[in-house]
Amino acid sequence: MAAQRDDTKYTLGSVLNHVLLHQTLIGQEALLQMEMAGDDPDVLVGCTGGGSNFAGIVFPLLGQQLRGGKKRRIVAVEPAACPSLTRGQYAYDFGDTAHLTPLTKMHTLGSTFTPPGFHAGGLRYHEMAPMVSHIKELGLIEAKAYPQLACFEAGIQFAKAEGDFAGAGGEPCGARSD
Ligand SMILES: Cc1ncc(COP(=O)(O)O)c(C=O)c1O
Repeated sequence: MAAQRDDTKYTLGSVLNHVLLHQTLIGQEALLQMEMAGDDPDVLVGCTGGGSNFAGIVFPLLGQQLRGGKKRRIVAVEPAACPSLTRGQYAYDFGDTAHLTPLTKMHTLGSTFTPPGFHAGGLRYHEMAPMVSHIKELGLIEAKAYPQLACFEAGIQFAKAEGDFAGAGGEPCGARSD
């Protein structure tokens, strides 16, 4: 979109309502897959940088809950080095450091916040999507902040326990070898 228009320099790829809406494809597909598997999750966990992939999986399932469906535990996990949802203020702020975006109400560390360097680049964003911030304020989700090494360790443990780790002739995906 930015390349096609003279009056546009950049389009945000996370945070804004239309991006979150687009990402809800993930949750809609997850619901169909759960139906095929004859199962249903009790807990949803997602990483939250700007909030788009998290909203993508969570919103369709939360929608079910808000229409009287099953209540699930929903946990947003963010980097301890950039903890907007757990430690930011719920206030109107800019989405960018140049202050070109409209003001939106969200959890923010301040648009001038400079996070320390760490590996997950897109998780160094100073704010959380307004709609994810809102459901946090409504008490519909929990938020936790973890340091990157603990997350990498958990990822490796999960891959070893749940998948065919590095194609090393392990069990098929979903089978446990422990
Ligand atoms: C590499 C990378 N990681 C994470 C994110 C943030 O993801 P989300 O908005 O799904 O939290 C982005 C972009 O926003 C990204 O480019």
